[in-house]
Amino acid sequence: MQYQSQAVAKPYFIAAIALFTGQILFGLIMGMQYVVGDFLFPEIPFNVARMVHTNLLIVWLLFGFMGAAYYMVPEESETELYSPKLAIALFWIFLLAGAATVLGYLFVPYATLAELTGNDLLATMGREFLEQPLPTKLGIVVVALAFLFNITMTVLKGRKTAISTVLLIGLWGLAIFFLFSFYNPHNLVKDKYYWWWVVHLWVEGVWELILGALLAFVLIKVTGVDREVIEKWLYVIITLTLVTGIIGTGHHYYWIGAPEYWQWWGSIFSALEPIPFFAMTVFAFNMVNRRRREHPNKAAVLWALGTGVMAFLGAGVWGFLHTLAPVNYYTHGSQITAAHGHMAFYGAYVMVVLTLISYAMPIIRGRAANSNKAQVLEMWSFWLMTIAMVFITLFLTAAGILQVWLQRVAEVPMSFMATQDQVALFYWMREWAGVMFLIGLIVYIVSFFVNGDDKATAR
Ligand code: HEM
Ligand code: HEM
Ligand SMILES: [Fe+2]
Repeated sequence: MQYQSQAVAKPYFIAAIALFTGQILFGLIMGMQYVVGDFLFPEIPFNVARMVHTNLLIVWLLFGFMGAAYYMVPEESETELYSPKLAIALFWIFLLAGAATVLGYLFVPYATLAELTGNDLLATMGREFLEQPLPTKLGIVVVALAFLFNITMTVLKGRKTAISTVLLIGLWGLAIFFLFSFYNPHNLVKDKYYWWWVVHLWVEGVWELILGALLAFVLIKVTGVDREVIEKWLYVIITLTLVTGIIGTGHHYYWIGAPEYWQWWGSIFSALEPIPFFAMTVFAFNMVNRRRREHPNKAAVLWALGTGVMAFLGAGVWGFLHTLAPVNYYTHGSQITAAHGHMAFYGAYVMVVLTLISYAMPIIRGRAANSNKAQVLEMWSFWLMTIAMVFITLFLTAAGILQVWLQRVAEVPMSFMATQDQVALFYWMREWAGVMFLIGLIVYIVSFFVNGDDKATAR
């Protein structure tokens, strides 16, 4: 570790992995409820499990991004973090607020929670991904602003690099677009319209800049390729991202009551969105092939390459599958959407955070890389989780195709619930793949606790 303050990333990474585990457990609970309707009812209703699953996902990814920024920015800026104390304080505030929110979801009926937390003052709750009570939303803004202050001050007092600039733009964008979660017009068309300014402009806009910056950072470190080369790739990727992704928002405006021209604009621009994801894959493989050194952390290299491939498959290929208006007319809101949502979130954001943790954690713990034994376990966890996610995606895709057929195409369309019964086999298979994912995650966690006296990789 070149700068002492980089160590503040460690609690962020640990919390990220702990919340990740919680997310997966609730995913498994819901997967079970899909096939055994009253599983854990009334203790954990499906809608509650769903909020916990998706909100934990977002919150742990944010912990991951913040940890990544605290680790990367001092090294990129060649100076200590502006205020390590602030970073630690924010960690606890964010963790406690997050935990309180999840406990609120689990133990207080949602309507009561809304009443208790001032939703009548400013109604923001009840929308997918943005279910958080008002105080939590305000807390997120405060933590985000203080975090951005800390990171921005560090960049300003040190060396400015393309990577830290792109990272900063991405993180500022993340905070700014979150502000639309406070805008909740009565008009349902407007509500949906701006809801996507958070959800779509996050994952297909500003988060992609964060993804690019994290990937570029790790690639520089593990390959030793010249910074100039890597920066050129990064510029091309973020340009392609913004040119396609911003107007690409239109692929969510087909059927919500927005003007009809969105069917064209949304289809054309979002059909181009896979290009930056493809460029990211080529980028990762190209840099690793041109590497100037053999970095002892093989696991981190594997995660970096895997991120490129899986992000392209999940976001690029599975996104393209249903992005054209004439296709989306049939597939909208089906299991095809869920298949894509899972693989895209996993391939792009879960994997890039794990890439950074894989690279940075050993160094924070005082060695260039983990022992061979620990790395072998970590690579096992990579394959278990990644292959499990491929299965989850394929099973949901199969369920989705059947669902669309039976419910929307067949001559005598079936009702929603009757259709769900017909595809139950695929939901069972999804659940088993989910168990495999959990095993992969457990192996991943175990890999942190095996040291093995491998002197070759110790510093
Ligand atoms: C890493 C990037 C991405 C992530 C994390 C992601 C995630 C998601 C999620 C979670 C949803 C479901 C939203 C909801 O209704 O609750 C969704 C919807 C959608 N995504 Fe993506 N996505 C990504 C990139 C893309 C790309 C590149 C494309 C197009 C090529 C795309 C096309 C779509 C479409 C068309 C829908 C709407 C599906 C429907 O009508 O039901 N996505 N995405
Ligand atoms: C890292 C791994 C995972 C990620 C990134 C993830 C992400 C997501 C996202 C983004 C959604 C919202 C999807 C949408 O609205 O279309 C969701 C819903 C869901 N997830 Fe996951 N998930 C993961 C693992 C799992 C696992 C292992 C299971 C269970 C086997 C699971 C089961 C579910 C279920 C049942 C839903 C609700 C779908 C619905 O509303 O019909 N997830 N997940
Ligand atoms: Fe989108």
